[in-house]
This record gives sequence, C-alpha cells and structure tokens, in this order.
Amino acid sequence: MSLIIEPVALSRDVPAARVIRAQLGELDLAIWRSASGVLSAWENRCPHRGMRLSHGFVRGERLACLYHGWHYSTEGFCEIIPAHPELTPPKSFCTMQYGVVESSGIIWVSNQRTDTDHSQPAQALTPPVLHDSVQPVRSLCMEASVAEVNRTAKENPPENLTLGSCASNQHLSFDDTAGNCGAMLLLHCLQDNRVNVHVLAGEHYNTDELVSLSYWCESIRRIAEKSAGVPA
Ligand code: FES
Repeated sequence: MSLIIEPVALSRDVPAARVIRAQLGELDLAIWRSASGVLSAWENRCPHRGMRLSHGFVRGERLACLYHGWHYSTEGFCEIIPAHPELTPPKSFCTMQYGVVESSGIIWVSNQRTDTDHSQPAQALTPPVLHDSVQPVRSLCMEASVAEVNRTAKENPPENLTLGSCASNQHLSFDDTAGNCGAMLLLHCLQDNRVNVHVLAGEHYNTDELVSLSYWCESIRRIAEKSAGVPA
C-alpha cells in the first residue's frame, strides 16, 4: 500500500478537548486533541461495538465512547470500562491509529497505521513543505472535482495576485508583485466530486484581507460547483 499524506483539517478546528470526524480516502477517522494538547487520528470505530468515536467526548487525556463509555488513552488503549470498574482492560482493547502531524496550521494524516507495534516508536511523518510563512484562513467543502476546483482557481486568481510557481494538482499558491505568497489552496479529495479546500494566507495579511480572501474562495466554490452542474 502506497503512503498517502493528506491535509484533513485546520489545527484550530481541533482545539484542546475536541473530537471531529474526518476522511482520508476510504478511511473514516476520528481526530481528537486531549486537554493537554496531544493530537490523535484513529479509525472512527469503537473496538467494543463499533460506535463512531467522533460522537464521543474528551475527558482530560482520554476519549470516551458515547455508547458504553469505554475510555481510551492517547495511546489508544482502553483504560476504563464503566460497567466493570474493577476490571483492568487487556491491551488488546485498543483503537486503530494512523500517523498524524501538524504543520503550518494544518493537520496532516497518513494512511500508515501506528498502532501495530507499540514497542517501536512511530515512524516520523513528514508533510509537504509549504514554501512560505502562511496562516490558516478556513476550510470549505466544494461539490466539484479536484481538477474543476484547480482550473477555476487558476482562471480566477485573487485580486492583485498571480499564480505562483508552487502549483500542482492539489496545491496552488498565488503571489503578490514582490513574489511573496498571498494565498494558498490545499485541495483534499473526499470523493470524485467533493473536495475539501483549505485556504491559507500570507502571514502579513490583515483582517480585511483575510475576509476578502474568504469571500474569494466562496466565489471559487460557486463557479466550480456551477461548472460541475450543482444547482445554485
Ligand atoms: S461501542 Fe464504544 S463503548 Fe461500547
């Protein structure tokens, strides 16, 4: 299986003591951050009876399943079974975990499992290097293909910016006249016609410029979805 690393969410959308649902290819994921800030990416399925863990609750340094309340540590091991408080759960009661790392305000997840051998340190996960200092703006889901969103953004760049040299199918940057990065799009394919678009701006952008960039991205969504035949 080839290694895949995708930008699944903005870091700020997963603050301390929060769990969200995310997707990586066919993988349904629960991304959660403990109260002290430990970030984890797990299969979105409780090892007990299969409840989605993204419906659960963060309790300090543990994630509690909504259904029967089993508590899992940040290492993925079940530590508390409320119906059997005297029981020490076996190590086999553990979640399926994937590599996760944060960079430039983005949470990147890989399809590489990290739970298979807890005696070995997980292999370091290296996300793509973003060439400039950037700040996250927002994420938008667009009902269009990666190619359609890519083409639409290239044909309708943000005001006063031009397509930069750092452009690929899933990564577009737009530079100002001085060559500084003003905007960046990371396209995360969810399905053939559904893309999660993470928008980043140059770190020097002020609030008004960030708002303008946010509106620009909404206009890209409207154009791309119209081209894809999605009713307005
Ligand atoms: S399904 Fe999660 S604790 Fe039972």
